[in-house]
Amino acid sequence: MLAGKRVLVGIGGGVAAYKVCEVISTLAKAGVEVRAILTDSAQRFVTPLTVTTLSRHPAYTDESFWAAAHDRPLHIQLGEWADVFLIAPLTANTLSKLALGLADNLLTNTVLASTCPILVAPAMNTAMWQQQTVRQRWQALKDLERFHAIGPEEGLLACDTVGTGRMAEPEDIVPYLSSLLHSKGTRDLTGKRLLISSGGTREYLDPVRFVGNPATGKMGLALATAAWHRGATVQLVQASSLLEVPSGSTIAVTHVVSAAQMQDALVPAFPQADWTIMAAAVADVKPQQYATTKLPKHELPAALPLASVPDIVQALGQLKQPHQRLVGFAAQTGDIAPPAFEKLKRKGLDAIVANPIDVADSGFGGDRNQAIFIDAQGHQTPIPHCTKLEMAHRILDLIAKLT
Ligand code: C5P
Repeated sequence: MLAGKRVLVGIGGGVAAYKVCEVISTLAKAGVEVRAILTDSAQRFVTPLTVTTLSRHPAYTDESFWAAAHDRPLHIQLGEWADVFLIAPLTANTLSKLALGLADNLLTNTVLASTCPILVAPAMNTAMWQQQTVRQRWQALKDLERFHAIGPEEGLLACDTVGTGRMAEPEDIVPYLSSLLHSKGTRDLTGKRLLISSGGTREYLDPVRFVGNPATGKMGLALATAAWHRGATVQLVQASSLLEVPSGSTIAVTHVVSAAQMQDALVPAFPQADWTIMAAAVADVKPQQYATTKLPKHELPAALPLASVPDIVQALGQLKQPHQRLVGFAAQTGDIAPPAFEKLKRKGLDAIVANPIDVADSGFGGDRNQAIFIDAQGHQTPIPHCTKLEMAHRILDLIAKLT
């Protein structure tokens, strides 16, 4: 989603400017063409040389803006060039200027001369962030279609106060840019309520041992993140996953361990959901008995008779209303499509995502995946090897087209 794309980065004058250097470095390493603009005050925190080196291209400043034009005006060129524009850290000053449409430097002029989606990541002291003037301008900025917001987060600030004002982390900013490049900034899932399960359930035999699987929850989290970036209201039910949702996101999380707990979380939430995506790997069986104290080793072989766990998605399939969409996942080996389609039919699903777990760099735990999306008519759409975030977007696109 990122390679070959053109990302323009506007750096404001705040101490968090050092974190933007990491964003630029990550983007450049991913094959993105990066151009960066530093405001005058940004140059007090990071130098154009740092940004030039990391972005592999001369950084722009107001000096470049006012230099004798040898071509078309710089703000017009940059504005037309960008596929997506990141402004970080967004200072109180630039925030207010953007909300009002003011343009008194290269960064703000380029905003007005561009049409691409803009991601803004504010950072400032908590008292500044809470000023009524800033609050009003922030709301006004967020109401504008082009502007997408990430953060600020709560935490210890460089001014030694604890509160809201920390800039979002680079690892949350980069996926948001990827999503905006995919969606072109449209919030096509606004008004949709998504219920997503992720991770792997565990069925404990005693306080130490469990029956489980290696699922980490990355695919479900990618689906939740992509849907949030596209404007959906998302509820994520995470089974035994250590992953955190992007801070500042509106994704509501419920943590569960066993299949029974997952069912208890999903069933009451299901009627409100427009789309439910069961990305979780549910352990199919559980030990018949649970011992409240750790079993001695020699008792283990006899302690392992297994019982089935309820098939959650099959139960949801029976409750499904015509306007609802229910999508499952099938982790398969060998010829993945036929058994996945059989599961779709048996469980009453609208679609199933069959993904191979016996090919390199796919399936459990990694950052990449590949799959075949199969609808209820048996129509197959291959999703070639890609990042889990990209796969998430493709799956959401395909669910939107289900009839
Ligand atoms: O385990 P199986 O391959 O049958 O899982 C396919 C789909 O069914 C997945 O979406 C999984 O989350 C769901 N499932 C479930 N309850 C189970 C087993 C699987 O909801 N007990």
